Amino acid sequence: MQPKQLSFLPDQASSIAGSVDGLYAFLVLVTAFFSLLIAFLVVFFAVKYRRRSDDEFPQPIHGSLLLEIVWSVIPLGISMVIFGWGASIFFKESRPPADSLEIYVTGKQWMWKLQHMEGQREMNELHIPVNRNIKLTMTSEDVIHDFFVPAFRTKADVVPGRYTTEWFRPTKVGQYHIFCAEYCGTRHSGMIGTVYVMEPSQYEAWLTGGGAQGTMAQKGEALFQQLACVNCHLTDGHGRCPNLVGVFGSDVKLKGGATVKADAAYVRESILNPQAKIVDGYENIMPTFQGLVTEDGVLELIEYVKSIGAKDAANSGTTGGSTTGAPAAVPTSKGPPPISPTQTLPSTAKPAAGSMK
Ligand code: CUA
Repeated sequence: MQPKQLSFLPDQASSIAGSVDGLYAFLVLVTAFFSLLIAFLVVFFAVKYRRRSDDEFPQPIHGSLLLEIVWSVIPLGISMVIFGWGASIFFKESRPPADSLEIYVTGKQWMWKLQHMEGQREMNELHIPVNRNIKLTMTSEDVIHDFFVPAFRTKADVVPGRYTTEWFRPTKVGQYHIFCAEYCGTRHSGMIGTVYVMEPSQYEAWLTGGGAQGTMAQKGEALFQQLACVNCHLTDGHGRCPNLVGVFGSDVKLKGGATVKADAAYVRESILNPQAKIVDGYENIMPTFQGLVTEDGVLELIEYVKSIGAKDAANSGTTGGSTTGAPAAVPTSKGPPPISPTQTLPSTAKPAAGSMK
């Protein structure tokens, strides 16, 4: 049973693809076996027990305990095998390893926007190194989309107002399709893209060659100043709003006594719906930034807050939730430059992310 030879399947280009195909092949074989068995028995019994004369009457049957036990226990056993096998793959597929390279995805009618921590942005393209664990943190600007790379055998819904995750470990250099796998309107079928799995050295060259204007955390810091967040979130603790240094990954005490884990979802809510949770000791004075900052911008702000947050919790911010303890992947950004010092500022400098729509 080596499904790689079935040419109607896409490439097996991730670490998990083989086990998904194995389970799939098992399901097909079990289904085919019982379909053929039943079809054969229908014909066989029809011939064997056909009525041979008009005065022939069959013996009535009043049940068989043995038969009923057999046809209950065997399917139960098969179902439990499928359940256990499927669950083990599901758990593996839904827990991003702690050492994953993080990439942010924003779905939008009808395109994919991707951001690398190092600051690179892509549209309908994703460049990644081979043999690295990749974790996508995804959200949508409008309706539900679904990020699907068939060659990686993994997909996950991309939902407005929340962060979902997806991870994979590409094992083969090459180009692979990205599809949107959730009907999202007129041009759903055109919401496609390409993953470029590259040798690590090529990937490094790609990363440095793309003219990214600062890391995501640096862009977030620029946005933090541009949106005037700095005026209230003072770092000396005397601001009208909480000091954000060290907050990310910590437990925040709220007015009324509850506590909340400061993860990506909490930071996002605090930006777009600040009234939802008021930090203990502060007033409900922050205006909403809904409409003033894009989802991409929110992700950059999260990266900034993460970069000044608790180091050992840098990865715990998303719905995956199980990756606490990973080292911070972004160097803490200190000082003002939203533009990396090695780059000259072009006259057509891109506007800060918050003002892009
Ligand atoms: Cu996006 Cu379908």
